Amino acid sequence: MSGLLLGKTALVLGVANRWSIAYSIASAFVREGAQLVLTFQGERQRQTVEELGQDLKAVRVLNCDVTKPEELTQLAVDLKEVSPTLDAVVHSIAFANKEDLTNPFLQTGRDGFLLAQEVSAYSLVAVARTLAPSMTEGGAITTLTYLGSTRVIPNYNVMGVAKASLEACVRYLAAELGPTKIRVNAVSAGPIKTASARAVKDMTKNMEGLASRAPLRRNTDPAEVADAVVFLSSDLGRGVTGNTLFVDAGYQIMGA
Ligand SMILES: NC(=O)c1ccc[n+]([C@@H]2O[C@H](COP(=O)([O-])OP(=O)(O)OC[C@H]3O[C@@H](n4cnc5c(N)ncnc54)[C@H](O)[C@@H]3O)[C@@H](O)[C@H]2O)c1
Repeated sequence: MSGLLLGKTALVLGVANRWSIAYSIASAFVREGAQLVLTFQGERQRQTVEELGQDLKAVRVLNCDVTKPEELTQLAVDLKEVSPTLDAVVHSIAFANKEDLTNPFLQTGRDGFLLAQEVSAYSLVAVARTLAPSMTEGGAITTLTYLGSTRVIPNYNVMGVAKASLEACVRYLAAELGPTKIRVNAVSAGPIKTASARAVKDMTKNMEGLASRAPLRRNTDPAEVADAVVFLSSDLGRGVTGNTLFVDAGYQIMGA
């Protein structure tokens, strides 16, 4: 594969380290010829993400905490310096308090519930509203979701509710942005060992059982999630919007 994203400028939000799904997506975007911009969440991440950005030959690495409207506004301004148009945006961001991914769901407090919704679902709306005006030629916004949005996955709890909200946001955004040729989709990845997955009690431990029940008899490789995002972000995905595409070795079709 090569050149599927040639001539396109892509922004990938959510690289924290080499294990981040966003890192695999960014690598695949570069392989396909995209001009890449990365973001980091606050000073604590700056050095790591700048180093990863160098490895990936990203043209810019910019600060953006999605809960801070002023940082989103500045991001749009900084992006204009990189390129007059933006073609692809990847939102690979989620957060919930660890206790809300460990304790019974019934114990979820108001603050933890709202935090998960703000970072993991509302931020897609904020990102789309801020960056859609820069997508003057149309393009693709893609987010990452998980089966816990529609099925009860042990300890996924408040994040499952946030992912249900995120997937609904995808549909409403797709309907409104379609006339400007901006497509909005979600990729539902099977479990992958990342920092976010480790925050969910027993999630990585339960992966072994999942692999034996998935039709493809294996776990999900982040590189195949990345390739699905390439497809959606490229002209090959031009007819697809408002969708949730599963990249999970087929696990979601199984009844037991
Ligand atoms: N790992 C899995 O099993 C799995 C499966 C399906 C979906 N996902 C989703 O994939 C996405 C990426 O997660 P990951 O597994 O690569 O883990 P990760 O921890 O590497 O990535 C999560 C990212 O969210 C960022 N983030 C959190 N709060 C933020 C904020 N306020 N502003 C800006 N960035 C913020 C973090 O900095 C980090 O880069 C998430 O939406 C996650 O729910 C993960």
